[in-house]
Amino acid sequence: NAKPQLVKDLASQDITCIPDSFILPEHERPCTAIQTEEVQIPVIDLADFHGEGRSKALKEITEACEDWGFFQVINHGVDISTIQNMWAVAREFFDMPLEDKLKYYTDDVTKPTRLGTSYNPTKESKLHWRDYFHQICNPLPDVIETWPDKPASYREVALEYTQALKSLAEQLFAALAESLGLHSTIFKEVFKAPDQHLMLNLYPPCPTPELTFGLASHSDPGGVTILLQDEVEGLQVFHKGDWITVKPITNALVINLGDAVQVFSNGRFKSVNHRALVNVNLRMSIPYFFDPAKDVTLAPFKSLLDENHPPLYREIVFKDHLLGFASKSLVGKFAV
Ligand code: SIN
Ligand code: FE2
Repeated sequence: NAKPQLVKDLASQDITCIPDSFILPEHERPCTAIQTEEVQIPVIDLADFHGEGRSKALKEITEACEDWGFFQVINHGVDISTIQNMWAVAREFFDMPLEDKLKYYTDDVTKPTRLGTSYNPTKESKLHWRDYFHQICNPLPDVIETWPDKPASYREVALEYTQALKSLAEQLFAALAESLGLHSTIFKEVFKAPDQHLMLNLYPPCPTPELTFGLASHSDPGGVTILLQDEVEGLQVFHKGDWITVKPITNALVINLGDAVQVFSNGRFKSVNHRALVNVNLRMSIPYFFDPAKDVTLAPFKSLLDENHPPLYREIVFKDHLLGFASKSLVGKFAV
């Protein structure tokens, strides 16, 4: 087996331009012109989410989900030390010698725990400037043995981080249900045993960031994504015809909704296209995904339908929706 070529190792060779295999045709390149309009995704303060401030926060979440499909949260209840420890082990993981990471490498994007590069290298005509580590987080006792055993504290730290984010995801779903006027546990019921996974994204320094993507435009297929991004800009959200850069806020979390939520809410909440640009500086992001179980049928909640509100989506089993996602290269939004 040939050794995989990680972007990190390529980037460390002091190249002045990226290889051809990463260079997009001109019409597909990101437009990196400086954004003039100071539009930002909403920033929502959850400090008083379980007290007097709940109705205000709920209103802001509802508007953000209807209008943007994206928002940032501050005072979200996840300990700063938990976040900082997660950053530290993620960096240490990528900094290990290739030999220590190789046992996780595969180009099969259906493998639940894997080290990979690009998005889906076996399907892509052009590669993405990204390496990543993906890990499945459930069912916990079975999967934790598949997580990295180096750095030594990895499992403990990732466990603490993903459990904190699971709790935040559950609170968000209760809020979304409430905002739809439905019982607060309705998402919990339909998602069955939710699939949870964590991804560590590494976008190494890129000498020619205008020629490629870290991750091309896509919408997330599942439930909710909770993203930690470092201080380097890169994430962009498509909003009213423009790509809006999400300004990094230290220790904030970026929340976005996936296709499954758009379907269950019958289009009221949006699953929006987003992408990651690369940079001459290294950038990292850590998304956590909280998705329906694979055998769940996505369909608008019946109680949201009447003769004036017909279903806008056909039913699809989540597994089949994901199959479409994993079988392609990354090109824009997939029909649901
Ligand atoms: C993603 O869409 O999963 C990653 C976005 C980012 O790196 O900011
Ligand atoms: Fe995404």
